[in-house]
Amino acid sequence: MQPMLNIAVRAARSAGEIILRSADKASHLAVDSKGKNDFATEIDRLAEKEIISIIKAAYPEHSILAEESGEHAGNDFVWVIDPLDGTTNFIHGFPQYAVSIALKYKNRIEIGVVYDPLREELFTAKRGGGAMLNNRRLRVTGLTSMKGALIGTGFPFKVPQHLDAYLNMFRAITIDSAGIRRAGSAALDLAYLAAGRLDAFWEIELKEWDMAAGILLVKEAGGVATDFSFNDNYLTSGNLIAGSPRMHQLMYQLIEPHVTPALK
Ligand code: IPD
Ligand code: CA
Ligand code: CA
Repeated sequence: MQPMLNIAVRAARSAGEIILRSADKASHLAVDSKGKNDFATEIDRLAEKEIISIIKAAYPEHSILAEESGEHAGNDFVWVIDPLDGTTNFIHGFPQYAVSIALKYKNRIEIGVVYDPLREELFTAKRGGGAMLNNRRLRVTGLTSMKGALIGTGFPFKVPQHLDAYLNMFRAITIDSAGIRRAGSAALDLAYLAAGRLDAFWEIELKEWDMAAGILLVKEAGGVATDFSFNDNYLTSGNLIAGSPRMHQLMYQLIEPHVTPALK
């Protein structure tokens, strides 16, 4: 898998350069609305094209699932790409966004790369090979109670039908934890969890490309991830709880009473 990880890193860095080059003029870019509160700029598309061309040059027979261009059919290797996670931040010049690239083989995530071009932080993971930030090995935090815990999340702004359930979860976690952060890039939130900068994370209805790379980072840093039914269908449901085994359990206890049938 190392050659594939090298390709993922090369693609992520190259997309990061494209993103950085236009970061100053991001507020002047034409913005398409793909749906309610769902935006893309020409930079999202350019960065995605660059990633796909690097992957296709190395592995023409592989499949691709990319946020902006959708599915490109191929074999059992599937590259899952979010060229710019945190587009709303990017458009506003709010410095928190990343490139996210994962590789699945027969539905199992084998490689995950999350790259923050602003801070030049490269988070990488190989299944069974640990998670790294640049050259440093990552480990989730060893916290054993919600007291003192810093929790990451994303708001369900595209799915308002889940807002009441989310706010109930939010209330329970606000009361018990040290604080909640909504930084605007799920991929980076998960990378930060792997790096011990957050103690746990949850979000409703993420897309596969928001989380595939980040979840492998978390797992390879000693953490666990489940959906809201304590199963591993998070890539399909989009509902995710992640943390160290202990923090995950504590989060699940707070979230579970508010899970509606539609979120199971
Ligand atoms: C979004 C970010 C955000 C999360 C949203 C995603 P995008 O991705 O990851 O943190 O809350 O659900 O859609 O649209 O910026 O690639
Ligand atoms: Ca995203
Ligand atoms: Ca995106």
